[in-house]
Amino acid sequence: MQSSELRQKYLDFFKKNGHKIIPSASLIPENDPTTLFTSAGMQPMIPYLLGESHPLGHKIVDSQKCFRTQDIEEVGDSRHTTFFEMLGNWSLGDYFKKEQISWMFEFLTTGIKLNPENIYVTVFRGKEEVGIPKDEEAVEIWKEQFKKSGIKAEAVDFSEKNGMQGGRIFYYDETKNWWSRAGITQNMPVGEPGGPDSEMFWDFGANLEIHENSEFKSTPCHVNCDCGRFMEIGNNVFMEYIKTEKGFEKLKNKNIDFGGGLERMTAASLNTPDIFAIDVFASVRKKIEELSGKIYGNDPKETKAFRVIMDHLRAATFLIADGAVPSNKDQGYFTRRLIRRAVRYANNVGIDSVFCSAIAEEFIDIYADSYPYLKEKQKEINQEFLKEEEKFKETMEKGLKEFAKLDKISGKDAFDLYQTYGFPIEVTEELAKEKGIEVDLEEFKKELEKHQELSRTASAGMFKGGLADNSEQTTKYHTANHLLLAGLRKVLGDHVFQKGSNITAERLRFDFSHNEKLTSAQINSVENFINDIIKEDLPVSFEEMTIEKARELNAMGVFGSKYGERVKVYTIGEGNNVVSREICGGPHVEHTGVLGIFKIQKEEASSSGVRRIKAILK
Ligand code: SER
Repeated sequence: MQSSELRQKYLDFFKKNGHKIIPSASLIPENDPTTLFTSAGMQPMIPYLLGESHPLGHKIVDSQKCFRTQDIEEVGDSRHTTFFEMLGNWSLGDYFKKEQISWMFEFLTTGIKLNPENIYVTVFRGKEEVGIPKDEEAVEIWKEQFKKSGIKAEAVDFSEKNGMQGGRIFYYDETKNWWSRAGITQNMPVGEPGGPDSEMFWDFGANLEIHENSEFKSTPCHVNCDCGRFMEIGNNVFMEYIKTEKGFEKLKNKNIDFGGGLERMTAASLNTPDIFAIDVFASVRKKIEELSGKIYGNDPKETKAFRVIMDHLRAATFLIADGAVPSNKDQGYFTRRLIRRAVRYANNVGIDSVFCSAIAEEFIDIYADSYPYLKEKQKEINQEFLKEEEKFKETMEKGLKEFAKLDKISGKDAFDLYQTYGFPIEVTEELAKEKGIEVDLEEFKKELEKHQELSRTASAGMFKGGLADNSEQTTKYHTANHLLLAGLRKVLGDHVFQKGSNITAERLRFDFSHNEKLTSAQINSVENFINDIIKEDLPVSFEEMTIEKARELNAMGVFGSKYGERVKVYTIGEGNNVVSREICGGPHVEHTGVLGIFKIQKEEASSSGVRRIKAILK
């Protein structure tokens, strides 16, 4: 079964079981300063997992676009991608383990007809120190399921020394079977939800000699082994805990967060260990073969280059469509890196022409039915690719000049070429080989690790800052955001729409459509408008309604594909003194009076036709 069919089958299966389908949210999280990208299906669901009511009810199903930066360097093997779709179903205080596991088993074995003999699962071993019990409940439910297919499923404790031990269900520790955005239990900041999980694996064949021929052969194979025999195809998270000052407490609701890689499930259903062999890559693979004259799968090095090009340009296409155009900072920096890596790897298979936008066009066609907005943005996407490819060609020439000056390549040199000129280490190695000089790989690795450590620290800091921040303060900024949009429209006109926003506990940043720099009189008027409303102490309330009703009420917000049919609308003011009405998930303060004093600190251009304001509450 190919991916478009599988996606639909999954959505239909859960719809039939009472779920409401919602569209994918953007790859760029809105109002979430804790992370740059949507990297899991649960991210946009966080407020609801924490107990806010979802306008569509308690059972939701979706296929969410995801992007994982930490996988960039891993791309090239048969299973890693930076961009993927995560199938997700959600119980927001509705069903729990029993329904989830039995539905999942039914979907896999009947819905997409996977052979149950090739399915293995893992569960949480428990952690006494923090009061989380061993998940025997999940084990019993899995056993019942397998039994229906005539399989006697033994549960065993995983141990590195003993491997499979004839088991079908394995207990692993929290490094494998605990889910939270911050990883294992002790890393979770206060306020973060999480829970034990149960992962499902597809076995590509016990008789394959994959393990014996792999670098992992020194220990027995097991489901989480990286040799390639097994592939994780989905994760059932039993999200019922929240980290508090005191340790772990139960969340208001018992939730289910299921996430399964669409591409991986498709690969399992085709029983191909190479996820780049599935439908969404087929025409692009052909295109690269045409351009390069090389055949995918013939030579390991070339195969790696094909995979990097396919993964990176697909990701970049989706990122640009969601607003992350190539640049030197924030999200755009990753788009830039992806395109540059793809171009370098394309050189490795002999593609010297300008080719990225041709590949992007293939992807836009492939995804035309599931993501029609890509077609609408086709022109913009093409231009961004062309611009970036040209720019990179220039940088690369400079990089090659730098390279020519070197008689030997220290680790630091290799790292500079990597960091400043975007040369993947393999390329530096090849160039060095041509020139007959050495590259200090050991030192390069050290430099790279140092750099990765730094960026990890930076993102951990960002994460911590976001979550552990005083959420009361960010809530205030959310409300101030609505007032700012209202104020700008009042002062500048109805052409002003929100183009982006980013909130931390210290400030808000707001992007909006407008062509000119604001005068200081305009800035004053906007501030006065907002501060007057704060003084009036107007009530802030919300109501759930259909999207049509929201439109009738002239609520601001995105009416495109992002929302399902019922939405939450926040209103500031009441009666005939309504100052703002916006579609928004919340949360917000209850009265404007608590906001303090609103002050615009900076007003600047963000991109063409878009201005950016940074403002604080004092
Ligand atoms: N949150 C879990 C994951 O991302 C399941 O959706 O794996």
